[in-house]
Amino acid sequence: MTHSSRIYLAIEGIDGTGKTYVADYISKKYSFVKLQEPSKSELGNFISNGAWDPVTDFFLFMADRASFLKDLPRDTNYVSDRSLYSSFAYQGYYLMERFRGIDEYFEFFMNSSKILPFLPTHVFVLFSDVDLALKRISGRGKLTRFEKRDYLEKVQEIYFSLKGRVENIKFVDSNNALDDLFKLIDKEITSLSPQGHLPSNK
Ligand code: TYD
Repeated sequence: MTHSSRIYLAIEGIDGTGKTYVADYISKKYSFVKLQEPSKSELGNFISNGAWDPVTDFFLFMADRASFLKDLPRDTNYVSDRSLYSSFAYQGYYLMERFRGIDEYFEFFMNSSKILPFLPTHVFVLFSDVDLALKRISGRGKLTRFEKRDYLEKVQEIYFSLKGRVENIKFVDSNNALDDLFKLIDKEITSLSPQGHLPSNK
């Protein structure tokens, strides 16, 4: 991989799979600028602290990312702790039933994503046993409105449905110790195909 290429790598997965550790690791080791969703902006905090219905959540998370992405320089490599695919999976749990099936929902989702300034060039979805993921997050204090077993089980399944639908997507096993996970990440990073530019919607 050449570091002159521009990459926007999204780290995805359910809560407790180690996304934040992985994003921090990649950011430090490969000098990628770290992004985070929801953002720490006023809007990001507003979303995190509220309890919204799924449709409102969908558009609020979209608005948050549209808003902070538009101000970012394009000539930088980014690693992002979550991205639009979190909306696909977490809000998809509720929104999917309004569509005839996953294909129709995916079409709606990709059409909506056209309003974003640019999209991830690569995605790593971390997956693990849901009970293990819940055990990992139980130490963080009160669980959020998103951190429920059956819900996360289904959300993880929805992530897997991105296979074959999204380009440059990799599913990375995060059931083991962090050091093992980092080794897998190193392997995946070295195999990233360099992108000449960040795909733009403009
Ligand atoms: P999380 O990454 O856990 O943030 P923090 O580390 O600050 O707690 O994200 C918070 C929750 O927001 C998480 O449970 C998933 C949810 N979420 C969505 O439902 N849709 C989205 O589009 C995003 C970005 C997050």
